[in-house]
Amino acid sequence: MKSLHFVIAIVYAVHLLALDVNVRGEDANVNSEGENKIEELDVTQSYCFQFSWMGPDYDNTTKFNKTCGELLEEGRDKHIPCRQPLVISYDSSKPDLDHMWDNYKMRVACKMSKGDVCARYSYSFNDEIVNATYMCTKVFAVNEGAVTSGCYKQKVGSYENEMCVCKSSPGDYLPCNAFRE
Ligand SMILES: *[C@@H]1O[C@H](CO)[C@@H](O)[C@H](O)[C@H]1NC(C)=O
Ligand SMILES: *[C@@H]1O[C@H](CO)[C@@H](O)[C@H](O)[C@H]1NC(C)=O
Ligand SMILES: *[C@@H]1O[C@H](CO)[C@@H](O)[C@H](O)[C@H]1NC(C)=O
Repeated sequence: MKSLHFVIAIVYAVHLLALDVNVRGEDANVNSEGENKIEELDVTQSYCFQFSWMGPDYDNTTKFNKTCGELLEEGRDKHIPCRQPLVISYDSSKPDLDHMWDNYKMRVACKMSKGDVCARYSYSFNDEIVNATYMCTKVFAVNEGAVTSGCYKQKVGSYENEMCVCKSSPGDYLPCNAFRE
């Protein structure tokens, strides 16, 4: 098993959301830098998905009104990747990434900066996915340097964490961290 050291940017994507089918979540005006707020998709640039899917325990009956900051504060681990918007699917199924890209790309995408990769960081328990965070980030593997593709797994307590990374091509395409099987 390869060990990883994650470098996770602390800036959260910030969007007030009232997206219909797939997405819920909110935040105040945290994103002072406007870092992940995409006004217009620039086809010369590359994009990743960026959001956290809350997992199968949440659906349209869940009363949930928290930000990543509050979530992590509660969990006492501030180093867990979390990205706004927080996504809950109506029927607790995995997020429909095509639908999200077609309808909400400005709110669930981040623009890759130099050295960034697209990542999906997921938690599983007993081979069942618990939640997943999609993001633009930089990933370094111990003794390997910057990682630009592939999947890494590690066991943390009773959970299995998987980090998969890739690089999107420029343009208005489904970002590579959709990881379509
Ligand atoms: C969610 O939080 C916002 C801001 O803290 C508050 O104004 C709102 O009433 C809350 N909504 C629910 C359903 O709790
Ligand atoms: C994902 O699940 C783990 C384990 O329950 C939790 O610690 C973490 O905060 C969750 N992440 C998100 C983004 O909900
Ligand atoms: C929740 O979603 C289901 C479909 O998955 C739908 O039948 C139900 O009416 C929805 N409930 C609410 C409160 O929106």
